[in-house]
Amino acid sequence: MVQETAILDRYGVIGYPISQSKSPVIHQQFAEQTGEQLIYELIEAHPDNLEKVVKQFQRAGGKGLNVTVPHKSRVTRLVDELSEAASIAGAVNTLKLDNDRVVGFNTDGIGLVRDLRDNWKCEIPDTRILILGAGGATQGILGPLLDLEPESIVIANRTVVKADALANHFGALGNVEGMRFGDVKSVEPFDLVINATSADLSGETPPFPHQAIKRGHTACYDLSYALHKTPFITWAEQADAGRTRAGWGMLIEQAAESFRIWRGIQPETKPVLQRLPAAN
Ligand code: ATR
Repeated sequence: MVQETAILDRYGVIGYPISQSKSPVIHQQFAEQTGEQLIYELIEAHPDNLEKVVKQFQRAGGKGLNVTVPHKSRVTRLVDELSEAASIAGAVNTLKLDNDRVVGFNTDGIGLVRDLRDNWKCEIPDTRILILGAGGATQGILGPLLDLEPESIVIANRTVVKADALANHFGALGNVEGMRFGDVKSVEPFDLVINATSADLSGETPPFPHQAIKRGHTACYDLSYALHKTPFITWAEQADAGRTRAGWGMLIEQAAESFRIWRGIQPETKPVLQRLPAAN
């Protein structure tokens, strides 16, 4: 008897290293919830092999990829078309693949905004926001945050020229200023502080500026997430921040937006968020 084997659509996340990624678990839950039939794989690609691995996956019929560290900026060179958000961010975290066409999207910013606003009920309009770090993560979230019309955004970074460059680049969209960590003490405390440094990855803790926090008021959000309390969350609690949140919600929301781009269906994020470890 000949058995019929369904050929499932293939997706994956590409990065280096990649074994730590939670994306397969999240997308599997979205697929089960929506009844979509698909496979989602971990794909490790050294930066030197990025183009080759993407092309191979596409030739083998792959339908889409999430792109993670360290490829988000480099992969912009491999696409035929960029979404507006990806173009503004200069970074791609989602690829949609057809037979002969690659389109790049960036869902990180929308993921953060949905988690902040819809899940955490954090109002952005007219607030003063401090972002710590001026790398790719900051670049991805600045456009969507500025769209919500905060009063101002300050970017503080160890390497101040990078903060200044981002402030210049995004200055047309709103009130954005770059400064050193040390200079934060000379300005008023903030309503929202976002940690977008990658210091946690190397077990480091930047000189987070205590003066940024108004006791009992300031909301502190860490783009990083971990099973343990992150150094930024520990610091924020010690500084008596109003409330804190690690980036699990953003991770799930950006994944949901990728899933929608690929499958045309918006999955529910709440049940997935509830199942993931509550870090704080
Ligand atoms: P990502 O894509 O995660 O943003 P990135 O582009 O390499 O990664 O940017 C990392 C950010 O974390 C940068 O702002 C970096 O500061 P520099 O621009 O000065 O390098 C910041 N960062 C990393 N480790 C840090 C540390 N120990 N202290 C302060 N900032 C740190």
